[in-house]
Amino acid sequence: MMKKGNMLYEGKAKKIFETDNPDLIIQEFKDDASAFNALKTGTIVGKGVVNNSVSCKIFSFLEASGIPTHFVEKLSEREMACRKLDIIKVEVVVRNVAAGSLVKRYGFEEGADLEFPIVEYYLKDDALADPLMNESHAMLLNLASAEDFVVLKSQALKINALLVDYFFKRNLKLVDFKLEFGRHHDKIFLGDEISPDTCRLWDVGSGKKLDKDRFRFDLGDIEESYLEVQKRVLAD
Ligand code: TMP
Repeated sequence: MMKKGNMLYEGKAKKIFETDNPDLIIQEFKDDASAFNALKTGTIVGKGVVNNSVSCKIFSFLEASGIPTHFVEKLSEREMACRKLDIIKVEVVVRNVAAGSLVKRYGFEEGADLEFPIVEYYLKDDALADPLMNESHAMLLNLASAEDFVVLKSQALKINALLVDYFFKRNLKLVDFKLEFGRHHDKIFLGDEISPDTCRLWDVGSGKKLDKDRFRFDLGDIEESYLEVQKRVLAD
């Protein structure tokens, strides 16, 4: 059993702790919610428990499907043990259906199926409000090399194909989602979380939004929607 050490970092939705093993950290999920670059903040009761259980389930599914991830094991309701990554400051977004900033920025109609998935990159920098960028920006900022981008893009598209199918079997449409990657002993691993905070998930039958958009746009039923996603993801 590993020992939980000092807190290394506190983010908006998680705390990261060191352990007695220098290769491992503990991710602890909070109920704190934030949106629009932290202009809107609040609490979603039980969110940390849902996001930890959903992330653990999905990361172990991805590992079993051949994707290298930071996931090691679920430790408790709100804690997962992970490989310690040196996070690449590039947020990778994959989209299957038009929503969110894609609609705002380019005028796609919300809900329109995209003919093929779009992969986008954002600079992970709160002070700059996570601007959209391309590979050249990221390379000139020394965040990742051209070879790294081959890995990021191919892994993101593989993960997308796996998750579209995984969620569809649970009556959820994977509209879009955000991934973070990091380095561990010179290899790139998938990091962070995959949860209703970082994915748009719509009920297949009704189209009801079951993700953080309920918090962003005050749609109500927030806790119930997170629990519904947890129930469907953990079923089987
Ligand atoms: P967007 O439409 O606002 O660009 O978001 C695309 C997807 O990425 C959506 O599923 C929410 C997720 N996302 C995050 O997880 N963190 C972020 O900071 C942003 C901007 C989006």
